[in-house]
Amino acid sequence: MILSIPGVLSPDDAHAMRERLDVSDAWVDGRATAGYQGAPVKRNQQIAESSAIAHELGDMIVGSLERHPLFISAVLPNRVYPPLFNRYEDGMHFGSHVDGAIRIVPGHGARVRTDVSITVFLTPPEDYDGGELVIEDTYGVQEVKLPAGHAIVYPATSLHEVRPVTRGTRVASFFWAQSLVRDDTQRSLLFDMDNAIQRLNAQNADDAARRTLVGCYHNLLRLWSET
Ligand code: NI
Repeated sequence: MILSIPGVLSPDDAHAMRERLDVSDAWVDGRATAGYQGAPVKRNQQIAESSAIAHELGDMIVGSLERHPLFISAVLPNRVYPPLFNRYEDGMHFGSHVDGAIRIVPGHGARVRTDVSITVFLTPPEDYDGGELVIEDTYGVQEVKLPAGHAIVYPATSLHEVRPVTRGTRVASFFWAQSLVRDDTQRSLLFDMDNAIQRLNAQNADDAARRTLVGCYHNLLRLWSET
């Protein structure tokens, strides 16, 4: 399931974050965090993972996502890898790849299985050309370029790339979540079911039927989740 999550950050907060990142001296070659598959095709810059600014801005993003009902319902997060920040300009790009399955949180040692990939766009799309996130999904190829402050979540099992940026600069945050439900199909079914229940709640539909459906949701979650 590929889902866009609007308003993770307000346009003003995204702008303020970008201004902080623009003047940071913590930018390094993006290959610092690439695996053996990603490194040869990765041409971008990243904020050093251990820098104070990465921690501070990353905490703001995770805090905001954890209060976002759509994110919780769609991702069912168990562990979230601390957000990273990247920048593409002057033709920089990231060729087609699949993200590594397991990431170890630096300085902490915790392992995060990457079930869901998340990108939060920080630059308004009118400020740059190219830079589309292209995701190969079971339904075909999706090209994603969202307003500043919006996020896209997609299965980390997907092949994806970032097209060359041919004008301006594209700044984004990217990271991964280990979900309580590892399988994307099961997660999607729970998400659809939760949405349907919310709609029935809003319509004050048949009480007993809603109770049964909510029970099914939780019993499926109990069956499929791991903590
Ligand atoms: Ni990737």
